[in-house]
Order: sequence, then C-alpha cells, then structure tokens
Amino acid sequence: MRQPLVAGNWKMNGSARSIELLLDGIKGSLASVGRAEVAVCPPYVYIPMVAELLQDTEVALGSQNLSQHQSGAYTGEIAASMLLDFGCRYAIVGHSERRTLYGEDDALVAAKYAAARAAGLRPILCVGEILEEREQGVTEDVVARQLDAVIELEGIEALADGVIAYEPVWAIGTGKTASPQQAQDVHAFIRQRIASRSGAVAEQVRILYGGSVKAANAADLFAMPDIDGGLIGGASLDAGEFIAICQAAP
Ligand code: PGA
Repeated sequence: MRQPLVAGNWKMNGSARSIELLLDGIKGSLASVGRAEVAVCPPYVYIPMVAELLQDTEVALGSQNLSQHQSGAYTGEIAASMLLDFGCRYAIVGHSERRTLYGEDDALVAAKYAAARAAGLRPILCVGEILEEREQGVTEDVVARQLDAVIELEGIEALADGVIAYEPVWAIGTGKTASPQQAQDVHAFIRQRIASRSGAVAEQVRILYGGSVKAANAADLFAMPDIDGGLIGGASLDAGEFIAICQAAP
C-alpha cells in the first residue's frame, strides 16, 4: 500500500514569526494525523529554521525548487546537496509557476529531477494542463509530454521513489478544484502510462493532486483510488486547514 503524502507548498509567503506560529499549530495537532506522511516546503531561507523547529517530529522537509547543476558559478541558485545538508527529503520540480513565470521547460525540469535524485532527494514532479489545453481536449497529451521528458532522461525506475503531483493550472490558487472524477481520470492515465513500462513502478509511485485543495474537499479527492495525497498551496498556510487536510488522507 502506498503511504499518502500531504505536502504544503508555502510559495513565497511567511516571516520568521508567522512560520513559528504555523509550525506550533501543526506540531500541536500531529498526533491526530493518521497514516499520511506530512511535509512542508518553505522558502529556501527558512529551511534551516524550519528544520530546527521540526526536530523530533516526523514532518518531512522539502524545497520548492533547486538548481539542475551540482555547484559552480550560478549566482542565486541552490544545489541539491545544500538542501540535503539542511535536512530536506523532497524537492518540488516543475511547479507550474516555475514553468510559466520563469520559463522552465520540460528538458530543464527533467534535469532538475535528475539533480535531485543524484543527491538523494526525492523529487516531486509537477505536471498539469492550462485551461486552454483542457478545453482543447489535450490534457493527456500535455501530461504525457511532461512525464515522458523525465522518463526519457532518467528511465522509468527513476519514478519509483519520486512523487508526481498532478496540478491542473486552472485550479491552482483559483478556488476552482478539479472534481474528484476529473482528477482521478488524469491520475489513472498517469499510472497507466507508467504501468505500460513498469507495473512495479506504477504500483509504487505516489501521485498527488494539487489545486485549491481545502479541508472541505480533501476527503473526496483522497478517496479516489489513484490519488495518493495532495500538494497544498494556500491552505497549507493555515495550521487548522492543513491538519484537517492531512487527517482526510485515508
Ligand atoms: P493552491 O496551490 O492549493 O493554492 O491552489 C497548489 C500548488 O500550487 O501547489
């Protein structure tokens, strides 16, 4: 059985004070979270602080991005080994905001996926279509292309210990959630595509849903057979909402 994962993507939000309060709230209710693995992905500069505050808890730490390079003259970039040094277990790669606002293409995202794995981090690969693509009926083509870029570079086995997050771009931060069935359909497509190369990897890989997940809709989404948890943006900044979402994972 795949263990559900609920990961909070804080994006560029918070302050030292607000993060302390948020983590106090999360830690105070962790005992009520069932089987789900819980992770938070703070802005880079807060990672050491969050690592310290999460000591003695089971909450995992992840980054929101990383460099595709190991080290060198890349001003402003952060390498996978640095994230590992500060206790990160996960690294989000290819979030739609990185793809659209910072021009990250499939090849770059695949290179970041490889860099994370090479250092021993578990990448969380984000895939998903924009509204126009859904309306044109090409959602599966888009998701397949994004997935195949990683499979071609790294091989199918590279997905086994990674995580995929299906995040329809039209649902991110908009309050519009994909219906459980809409999400399940794409999750099943992703798992079948992986299964056509390796049944074992398809069984193992966790596929999260992301896009306006809240306490009120999490249980219905997480009840779907191919949804293994969520990548949570806005609602992860509120301890009560975030914990309720974690509790909703079966
Ligand atoms: P949202 O963001 O939950 O605020 O829609 C999800 C994400 O971007 O990962």
